[in-house]
Amino acid sequence: MKNILITGGAGFIGSHVVRRFVTRYPQYHIYNLDALTYAGNLENIKDIQDAPNYTFLKGDIVDEQFINEIFSKYQFEGVLHLAAESHVDRSITDPLAFVRTNVIGTMNLLNAAKNLWKDNFDGKRFYHISTDEVYGSLGAEGLFTETTAYDPNSPYSASKASSDHFVRAYGETYGLPYVLTNCSNNYGSFHFPEKLIPLFINNIINNKPLPVYGDGNYTRDWLYVKDHAVAIDLVFHEGKNHETYNIGGFNEWKNIDLVKLLCAKMDEKLGRAEGESAKLITYVKDRPGHDLRYAIDASKINKELGWKPSVTFEEGLQETINWYLENTEWLNNVTSGEYSKYYEKQYS
Ligand code: NAD
Ligand code: DAU
Repeated sequence: MKNILITGGAGFIGSHVVRRFVTRYPQYHIYNLDALTYAGNLENIKDIQDAPNYTFLKGDIVDEQFINEIFSKYQFEGVLHLAAESHVDRSITDPLAFVRTNVIGTMNLLNAAKNLWKDNFDGKRFYHISTDEVYGSLGAEGLFTETTAYDPNSPYSASKASSDHFVRAYGETYGLPYVLTNCSNNYGSFHFPEKLIPLFINNIINNKPLPVYGDGNYTRDWLYVKDHAVAIDLVFHEGKNHETYNIGGFNEWKNIDLVKLLCAKMDEKLGRAEGESAKLITYVKDRPGHDLRYAIDASKINKELGWKPSVTFEEGLQETINWYLENTEWLNNVTSGEYSKYYEKQYS
């Protein structure tokens, strides 16, 4: 049995990846390492917690000694690294937290993997899950490809760009077998309600204002989280060493158009009059350094590994809305306590 380490598996995307690996690969033992920050939640993976091929490890990737100890104890043969500080707005108020986790934490994992594997890299793989935000902002035209120059604008994207560079540097310098993916905006179940889609679903449910930054004419490319998990599975198993793959939904939306679609769907689902939820839309102060447009060219992963999204945005969004309305207890639990302090600070 192979021991595989997944970091950040109690978070949004990580929980979907852990679930997929635990249920699909009984030949692996999956170790899920997560510090359980505000974004990590054991409720997200409750359904697989008793699986015989699963172990949860609570710990911080910034803690070098702890990381070295678990690599030595469990002799991991593969690493899927998702643990990160992931929210752009929080990176603006506390950039150092992003350097600690996203840069130093990634370095600790890279060093531990290199030291454990250095005598025999065969069959080993370090997979860094990253973001399209490292490429900076597009104008009205064009797409990010794997050769687009890095040009990060937020402390979050600068920290992810830095960790991407270190992963590649370890590949070039020490021969560490790695793969890297840069993905667009995910949405779906277990998404923490400080990001656009779950925040707005929660606010619509509670008849609270929908804070649209600036004029709302910012574009993002949205991908259903389960389709991202499928792509991650494919790249981990079939991607080529030392390669990068862009992952995206072929699905660009201006924020304001997406918000109006979401409002219409919520009206329908909640039995509200047409246009009721859209009345909650409130234009607020823009995000500093707000990137205008992200759009991914995902043709490489499509041509080389045969991946493409399996659901349309309409289907994925409907599933997501249904999930939040059926999981009000989850939503209530994560929006109690610390959440209200964050919300007050960000939107007051
Ligand atoms: P998330 O914020 O929902 O989850 C992050 C997880 O990492 C949480 O469980 C948290 O507890 C854990 N974590 C944070 N700091 C840690 C530390 N120091 N040690 C151990 N665990 C720690 O994030 P997400 O949205 O699921 O993103 C997962 C990864 O995917 C990140 O690397 C992110 O950069 C990348 N990504 C996210 C998106 C997106 O749209 N959400 C898109 C592309 C790439
Ligand atoms: O592109 C991939 C990235 O997508 C990931 O790397 C990040 O981890 C993830 O958080 C996400 O970053 P964004 O900044 O694009 O996501 P967010 O949901 O915070 O914002 C989406 C858009 O909506 C963005 O243009 C800002 C806007 N927005 C967001 C919030 C929270 C608002 O207008 N109002 C809001 O209250």
